[in-house]
This record gives sequence, structure tokens and C-alpha cells, in this order.
Amino acid sequence: MTHTARVTGYHNAHAALCDKRLVQSMYSECNVLMERVLLTLHGDAHTCRRAIEWKLFRRDFARFYEREIYPNTLAQTLAPYLSSGQMDLPEFGFRVNINLSADIAGIDRPEGSAAETDALVAYTRKFSEGATLFHSTRDKDTVRREVGEALESFKHAFFVPSRDRREQMLQRVGKGELSEDELPRDILTVLLANRQEQNLDDDMILREVAFFMQAGSHSSANALTHTFHELHQWCLSHPEDRERLQNDELFLQRCVHESLRLHPASPVAWRTAGEAFTLPDGTDLAEGESVVIDLMSANLEAPLFGDDAAIFNPKREVAPRIPPFGLTFGIGIHTCFGRDIAGGLGTASESGQAPHIGTLSNLLKSLLACNARPNPALAAQLDDGTERPNWGTYPLLIGATDGGGKS
Ligand code: HEM
Repeated sequence: MTHTARVTGYHNAHAALCDKRLVQSMYSECNVLMERVLLTLHGDAHTCRRAIEWKLFRRDFARFYEREIYPNTLAQTLAPYLSSGQMDLPEFGFRVNINLSADIAGIDRPEGSAAETDALVAYTRKFSEGATLFHSTRDKDTVRREVGEALESFKHAFFVPSRDRREQMLQRVGKGELSEDELPRDILTVLLANRQEQNLDDDMILREVAFFMQAGSHSSANALTHTFHELHQWCLSHPEDRERLQNDELFLQRCVHESLRLHPASPVAWRTAGEAFTLPDGTDLAEGESVVIDLMSANLEAPLFGDDAAIFNPKREVAPRIPPFGLTFGIGIHTCFGRDIAGGLGTASESGQAPHIGTLSNLLKSLLACNARPNPALAAQLDDGTERPNWGTYPLLIGATDGGGKS
């Protein structure tokens, strides 16, 4: 049996995630989706792809999205749930973030209908099952086949029309009929514009777009549910904070960060040593040896987060220069593109604008304002399709009365 090294503690994990000699290895289980997408690329190929895509994620984008686009998306997605008086929180989380994912990935929604959203949610949930296949409890060949079928169907229903529209626009830019500023600002456009230099074929571009669809929704939907649960528990023992959560945005964001620290998207990151070398903790690695980076242990390190690091406490003091969410968004080579969008920045901008609190805090603010609360008749259940400790269902009542819709 081959040996696997384990990296524990914040600083060791941080160093390992930044070390170019360690190669991503957690996603090769599902090559049908993940082969040569950004998250699985390494070295120059990763640097080049990341450089062209990162341009879309400048800080003004997160702020612009939160101010201009998200409120509308949120209101539209919330409306039917408010009428029915109930929702399943993970399902709502996916649904509301699917628009963010599609905008970033470059998938058009010409109908703007509920059926179109349903289809995109179903495809994206399947892509997420593929991306997290490493931790799946289902038969892996079955999941691979389902992901392949979903990808093929998504290709015809959404990808090809979105690609064709962008290719036509790029041709018009080439002829001088359109300026570059008029092009959509999304991953698909960036990849089509750079397909020669980056040696990208159609299947590769399809996989990258599908990967971005799931990256933009999956972790946020899980984080939303975990945070709601933590807030609910916190308010039972700290009823005096219930009102503060609705009036103090930065306190709410602090709660989101605290929950993110306790519930990283994956408790571990896996890498393979690209060459023989010694880790900062003194562990010798042979070339090809597997390394598991224990993000959970990093996020619970008592000298950084306090002796009560294992429990939810949004009022904790965190050591200087350590992010309150620990390593939940990764760090170094594969640092998450969506960190500022999902988690916000939390500081007032130079122009004196309100702080950018992130999509998660915005979602929770709306849910709390609508009196969202656990449905006493339906118990929340963990997701039994994955080893990751996520909620599979989390039924809520929403609106003013326990009987159903908004009064
Ligand atoms: C609560 C929400 C989220 C969490 C906890 C999260 C977490 C992570 C983590 C841990 C990684 C690095 C994985 C590794 O090092 O192996 C990552 C990478 C990534 N995330 Fe997120 N993510 C979130 C939301 C988003 C959103 C909204 C987007 C939107 C586009 C996104 C896009 C990406 C991309 C593209 C990468 C790959 C970066 C690279 O490989 O260079 N994520 N995310």
C-alpha cells in the first residue's frame, strides 16, 4: 500500500497549498468533467489559464454583482417560496446561485423561465456530483456515466447556442463592427477568444464552462445551509443577538465567516508530490507520493482561533493577519475565484460606499427578514450521497405565519 503524508495545522497547510511542487490530485476521479479544467491544471498551463480568466474577477466585479445584479435575482428566486411559505434551503441555495454561475460561465438563458432554471439546476447538481466524486458514497462508474450524459445534454441545450452567439460576436469584433467592450464578460467568451493561444478544443471549453457552473453554486449552497443552521443554534442560546443579525450587516458577515471556518467545502485537499522534497514540518516526500492537507485541523488551530475553536462563536478574536474563515477558500496556487463574491470584503470602499458583504450574507439577510425558520414538521437530513458533512435537505418555513404563505 502506498504511503500518504498528512499535513496538519494552519501554517503547514498554508505552505503546502502554496507549494508548486505539490500537484492537485483530488479531482481525477471524474475526468469526464474535470480533465484539464482550471482546478486540475498545473504549472504553466494553470498559470496561463488562470491569468486570462482571473481578469473577470477584479474586485469591482464582486461589488458590481452584489449591487446591480444580485438583488433582482434574489427577489425573483425568493418570490415563489414566499407564496408557498416553505422551501428546502440547499435547493434554494443552488437555485439562487445558478444565475451567478451562468453569468460567470457564459451560459445564456433566453427564456428566463422557471423550467429553464430547473434544467440548469439539475445539470449543475450532476456536475457537482462529478466534481466531488472522490467523496461520493455512490457507485462511481454510475456517477461517471450520469455526469457524461448530463454534459452531453447540457451541451446541446445550453452550451452550443451560447457558444455560437459569442463566436458570431467575436467575428464582428474581428471585422471592426463591434467593440471589445460590447462582448459578454464571461468565461466562455474569454476561452473562445483565446482558443488558439491556449490550445483549447470544443470539449475542453465545454468542460471548463460546466466546471464553472458547479463551482459557482455548489459550495455556496452548502455554506448557506450550514450558516443558517449555526445562526439558528446561536440564537437559541443568544436570543439577544437575533435582532442584531437583521440590523448589523458586518455582524452577520462575521457569522458567515465563522461558519465557513467550521465547514470548509472539503475538510481536506489532496495533492501529489511532483518531485522528492521535504515539507516544512520535516516530512520527507518521495516523487509521486500522496499528500492530504487537513484544512479542518488548520481552521481549528487553538493558538490562532482560540481554545473554543471547535465551536461557533462569531465574537471570537482571531490572530492578526489570519482570515476569519481560515483556509476554507484555499490559498496559493488554486485560491478560490469566488472568495470575495461569496464571502465579501467587509470594509467600506474608499468612496465611502457601504461594505461589500458578499452573496452569502445578502442571502441570509433576506431569509431572516422573511422570518425563515426550520420547519418543525420536517426534519433536516444530512446528504448520504457524500462523505462530506453536508445537509441534503433542510426544510424551512418562510413568511409571517406558520400556516404557509406571507400574511
Ligand atoms: C462558499 C463558497 C465557496 C467555497 C467555500 C469555495 C472553496 C474553494 C476552494 C477550497 C478552492 C481551492 C481548492 C483546492 O485548492 O484544491 C476553490 C477553487 C475555486 N473556486 Fe471556489 N469556493 C466557493 C465559491 C466559489 C464561487 C462563487 C466561484 C465562482 C466562480 C468559485 C470558483 C472557484 C474556481 C474557479 C476555483 C479554481 C481556482 C484554481 O484552480 O485556480 N468558487 N474554491
